Amino acid sequence: MTNSNQNSQPFTEETRLSQPRLKVIKLSRGITENFKDALKKFNVQAIEYKPFLRFHIANTLNELTNNKLGALLLDNLHNRLTGAILLECEGTSEEKTKSEDFIDFNILLSTAVSHLIGMPNLDSMSGKFYARFSVKNDDNSDSYLRQAHRRMELHNDGTYVQEKTDWVIMQKIIESNVEGGESLLLHLDDWTDLQKFYEHPLAKEKLQWSSPSSKNVNYKTTHPIFLDEDEDGKPIMSYIDQFVEPKNMEQGLYLYELGESLENDSATYSVKLNEGSMLIINNYFWLHGRDKFTANKNLHRELLRQRGVFN
Ligand SMILES: [Fe+2]
Repeated sequence: MTNSNQNSQPFTEETRLSQPRLKVIKLSRGITENFKDALKKFNVQAIEYKPFLRFHIANTLNELTNNKLGALLLDNLHNRLTGAILLECEGTSEEKTKSEDFIDFNILLSTAVSHLIGMPNLDSMSGKFYARFSVKNDDNSDSYLRQAHRRMELHNDGTYVQEKTDWVIMQKIIESNVEGGESLLLHLDDWTDLQKFYEHPLAKEKLQWSSPSSKNVNYKTTHPIFLDEDEDGKPIMSYIDQFVEPKNMEQGLYLYELGESLENDSATYSVKLNEGSMLIINNYFWLHGRDKFTANKNLHRELLRQRGVFN
């Protein structure tokens, strides 16, 4: 279903039949080019050094869309029925060579988006408001984030930090020799066993969470799997398999069964991201993960993430 498909429109909105909760928004070629022109006097270093510039470029992008993009993103992210967006730019993924300009444009684009929907948290892994990282064929890191040959299981972000994590932006900047590795998304209300685990006595019990050294978070935190309900009284969740520390058999088995249930749920969306596109999700009622890749020694993917809060 295409709601708006005229060239004069700043963007199109589409919903795929098989993934009705995911809104696909594509910025028109004209808006993309105009935004690139407007960014010419700024570079990545400038927006890293001067936080107010991030709001300026966000406002510039919004004005190019007749002040519609920011409101549309927020409406979708707050709406329990949807809450996930795939944002693309018409034309950019067809560019043959991905130059430094392409990389810089995409960092600036996701910065504009994050400042239209709120404020990004400081990413302790990078020490900046965003983090870039690579996925390669071989990896010796201390979590599954960069490991290509295994599925990164469904989870929420921000489970081991004290600040709120209302939303997550996952952007693909460049990739080569990649087969597989699609993004995985599961809406909480589509999870078949939600009520079973939500009504379990351990659903609201505080558990302990910590993270490996690469995350640069030097404390442990505690919270339940199911946090307080949202405004509509529906469950919201904060779960990841790798960083929760069960203290007894009961907690361990609850977590094991919950993880198995999530991984086997058939309602999970598999989403292919083109270079330069990004997923923006409500982190409390969507779980996300990544499918495994087909082995290729030249496999390379550059990603960017931002996590933050609504204002
Ligand atoms: Fe994540």
